[in-house]
Amino acid sequence: MAILITGSAGFIGSAFVHSWFLHSEEPAVTLDLLTYAGNPDNFAGLRSAAGHTFVHGDIADRSLMQRLLAEFQPRAIVHLAAETHVDRSIRTADAFFQTNVIGTTRLLDEVTAYWRTLSEERQRAFRFLHVSTDEVFGALTAHDPPFNESSPYRPSSPYAASKAAADHAVSAWHTTHGLPVLTTHCSNNYGPRQFPEKLIPLCIARATSGEPIPVYGNGAQIRDWLHVEDHCAALRLVLERGAVGRRYNIGGYGETANIDMVRMLCEILDRKHPRQNGEPHHKLIRFVTDRPGHDWRYAIDPSRIRDELGWAPNVSLTQGLADTVDWYITNAQWLERVRTGEYRSWVRTHYGQ
Ligand code: NAD
Ligand code: TYD
Repeated sequence: MAILITGSAGFIGSAFVHSWFLHSEEPAVTLDLLTYAGNPDNFAGLRSAAGHTFVHGDIADRSLMQRLLAEFQPRAIVHLAAETHVDRSIRTADAFFQTNVIGTTRLLDEVTAYWRTLSEERQRAFRFLHVSTDEVFGALTAHDPPFNESSPYRPSSPYAASKAAADHAVSAWHTTHGLPVLTTHCSNNYGPRQFPEKLIPLCIARATSGEPIPVYGNGAQIRDWLHVEDHCAALRLVLERGAVGRRYNIGGYGETANIDMVRMLCEILDRKHPRQNGEPHHKLIRFVTDRPGHDWRYAIDPSRIRDELGWAPNVSLTQGLADTVDWYITNAQWLERVRTGEYRSWVRTHYGQ
């Protein structure tokens, strides 16, 4: 028995690989194209490196997928590979539609062809877990109820539109071909090894090097934050016990305005990593031009996964943020290696000097 994980060298993918080997002896074949966001350093310290086979490649490469599926005969696919950064999707969306839509549909094709070769019993037990996002549901106002699994699709950004298209494809392959799929919609994750283009690691990276911290617009936009470990626990549970064809929303009851999030991080950094000039980190905050089409608020109603599968988040936002700051301080070398590469050029392109 084995599972196949796509996007394994990214933020959530690598956290899932670590959590897989903490909780299971089952081998995992993991695939990643190693785009700017994929980092083999993320596998450092894996509990059971012997059960891990890493393959460098593209989910859109049909012959590679055919070979991997035939060779490793996985009982499940956990599909995390994607282009994921909203701001990049606003600048150029090609890679988003190539990987998130074309890549996902090719993967679905190849997995379906493989699944048909399995015995009836293995076909019934097989799962294709598609990791989607709450962003496919668009923006909420301050007074709207949180998203549930029946919320209509209203993607705002090219990223969200590409994920929405992928979700529809997954659902269509289930209805048309009978592939046993599961889909999850999670809110904003945070934790170790997140690429410092996303708000929390960006804030930590810039604050610890004394650089300005950019906050879009007035910073009043709200995100629901979930620690990546809690997301991985939810994914493991959905994979083992989720009902085929069903969607599960995953959220952290952690709604926070961006400016409050940045201020919380600044306070944590004041304690753990005081500035040499003695000034508080919040003095580095700069309000910058807002993101076009910026979704006002995301919030998740996770009642289904709580009631049907017994999942609840374990990590409080206060503890999770403090641990995350600790991780980035302790792993300054990880950050430095990332920051000397692609990160630098993105910051120049997006934020200017
Ligand atoms: P990430 O950008 O850190 O990692 C994505 C990984 O996919 C990278 O390692 C990259 O190299 C790989 N990849 C990209 N194109 C590929 C391709 N064609 N073939 C193989 N690998 C490829 O993203 P993440 O934050 O870890 O997100 C993982 C998944 O979770 C995505 O599907 C994303 O939509 C979803 N998600 C993320 C969040 C969040 O807050 N980060 C929230 C909900 C859902
Ligand atoms: P981000 O981490 O990019 O995640 P997403 O856009 O998928 O929610 O951004 C989180 C929030 O932080 C979002 O409302 C945009 C905001 N933000 C800033 O204010 N400044 C920044 O430099 C970045 C990257 C994001």
